[in-house]
Amino acid sequence: MSKAISLVQNLLQDGAAPNLGTILQAFAATTVLSLTYGYNIESQDHPVVKLVQKLNDVFAKEGTAEKAALLETFPFVKNLPSWIPGLGFLERAETCRQLAKEVWDQPFEYTKGEVAAGTAPQSVELETAMKAAAASVYGGRNFMPSYCYTLTGHNYTAGAETSSSVLHTFILAMILFPEVQEKARAQIDSVVGKDRLPTFDDRDSLPYIEALICETMRWHPPVPLGFPHATTTDDVYQGFRIPKGAIIIFNEWAMSRDCVDPDHFDPGRHLLPSGELSPNARMSGSSSFGFGRRVCPGRFFSEGVLWAAFVQILAMLRFSKATDANGRPIEINPVFTNGVTSHPAPFQLSITSTARAQLIDRCQGL
Ligand code: HEM
Repeated sequence: MSKAISLVQNLLQDGAAPNLGTILQAFAATTVLSLTYGYNIESQDHPVVKLVQKLNDVFAKEGTAEKAALLETFPFVKNLPSWIPGLGFLERAETCRQLAKEVWDQPFEYTKGEVAAGTAPQSVELETAMKAAAASVYGGRNFMPSYCYTLTGHNYTAGAETSSSVLHTFILAMILFPEVQEKARAQIDSVVGKDRLPTFDDRDSLPYIEALICETMRWHPPVPLGFPHATTTDDVYQGFRIPKGAIIIFNEWAMSRDCVDPDHFDPGRHLLPSGELSPNARMSGSSSFGFGRRVCPGRFFSEGVLWAAFVQILAMLRFSKATDANGRPIEINPVFTNGVTSHPAPFQLSITSTARAQLIDRCQGL
């Protein structure tokens, strides 16, 4: 919760474009760094946070499902020179690999030192994995340090860009659909009152916020084509034979359009007529997290992080269109980036605080 409150402060200070995306990425990166490595970075200008942003920018553009399918189908392409028109991505993939190494090295070495010194915070994923490695508790398998390194590094890179994309889309939707923003804030006001900030204890009493998160992920899925899978055996689906080894790309985007008026942002889709949350409408159950045994392992963590961020933002901030020199609202033409993950391209906005923002100083210990 404290990181979500810092996010609100950062947005208030500096959230107008072009800094919005950077602030959201920094928030997501620091939450995942803290979970994975126990590395508590307060400043969004920390070099590791900057590196993650750089890595994510390249990876989101180059690591697409289409390119994976191309390389899997024609593996020889990997060995062609990158100056051939259309193959520039091979060089950028190499840049990505080098950046990933830098991004993974620094926090890994930090936590290794903390574990060795016995000062690592408890419940940190890397620390747990290292202890497991030392005790060989995983079915007698030899848990190599390199495995710990890769495990935590994957979490770190997979979690940061996806979560910030969801937050970015949420803020855009709040401006384009102001009635939803007001309705969400009204529910917070009626459940929480105006003299304190929301806490996780309020979560079950705020179904509209939960529905709003589900709708954000449906309205514009953060990973529109998911991550490619491959079949391990021959299969038949609705009369189509799928041979072993076939690459399956799940079209999350098409699935998200399979409803009435899909471009309209309406959290009510995820609620019962009584206002309660529909039985299957938990965010962690969203198909945005993928399927089967490779389903996103960070989904429950994300559910908590995003809930905290959504609820504190709505409680303390108001988003609206920016205005021009004559006070007229500047219209937004929503455009989204293309890549593994997708988020809104920069747009102009105005951020103001609600009266509740004055409570921040009293709530630093949450
Ligand atoms: C809104 C936030 C997130 C979204 C939308 C998301 C989405 C996804 C998707 C679609 C996949 C591929 C699943 C598949 O292959 O079927 C995935 C995999 C993964 N995610 Fe997430 N993710 C999010 C947050 C996180 C976080 C916070 C972490 C770590 C703390 C994380 C760690 C991972 C890892 C390690 C994998 C690879 C799993 C594997 O290949 O077995 N994700 N995620």
